[in-house]
Amino acid sequence: MRAFIVRSDTAYIDEGEPPFKAGRLDVMLNSAISAITHGNAQEIRRDVEFFMVMPLNDPPIIHINASTITRAPINEEDMLSLLLSGLRGRERGVRGMHGSLDSLLNELQSRGYFPIYLHEDGAPIKSIRPRENMAFILGNQNGMPISDESMMRKRGVRKVSLGPLPYMTWECVAIINAMLDGRILLA
Ligand SMILES: C[S@@+](CC[C@H](N)C(=O)[O-])C[C@H]1O[C@@H](n2cnc3c(N)ncnc32)[C@H](O)[C@@H]1O
Repeated sequence: MRAFIVRSDTAYIDEGEPPFKAGRLDVMLNSAISAITHGNAQEIRRDVEFFMVMPLNDPPIIHINASTITRAPINEEDMLSLLLSGLRGRERGVRGMHGSLDSLLNELQSRGYFPIYLHEDGAPIKSIRPRENMAFILGNQNGMPISDESMMRKRGVRKVSLGPLPYMTWECVAIINAMLDGRILLA
């Protein structure tokens, strides 16, 4: 399995607002689409879990388990509708969770995931040996709050870079999926 965790201290779900106005919820929705689909967004990647960590939202964490969802979201609106159906108990594979990035990392590490924090200033990705269960942690349009960076440093989470240029969060998710699919650039 592979997991993607995107942390946003601005995003929240508001059905009355377009996603780009709801604290850039669009970043979370597009990252989720990149994480759980492939093949022109028609196919579901069954080996992916995606976590949205959004402290401003209720619930603050949304978990998408792509192994059990029943339809591939094709755009932001569709992704949002999938989340809302899941949170209302009408779609398998989507659930709300309580907690923070810290507690989520606890859970994922106890489930055997190897966490990696993606940041331009990290060690080159080719220095990382591919493993069975990798969990990639990303920031939103503003990056990662300093408090969470320091929490991850204390936990010994590796900071890894895709190169010196900053990319969009959802682009990084797509790059990681492509790398893991083809084992390109990983050691
Ligand atoms: C648009 S970037 C955030 C840029 C923000 N200005 C900052 O200072 O972090 C969104 C997220 O994508 C990831 N990211 C972007 N470019 C990257 C790169 N070259 N290597 C690794 N991760 C990257 C990071 O997790 C980052 O928080």
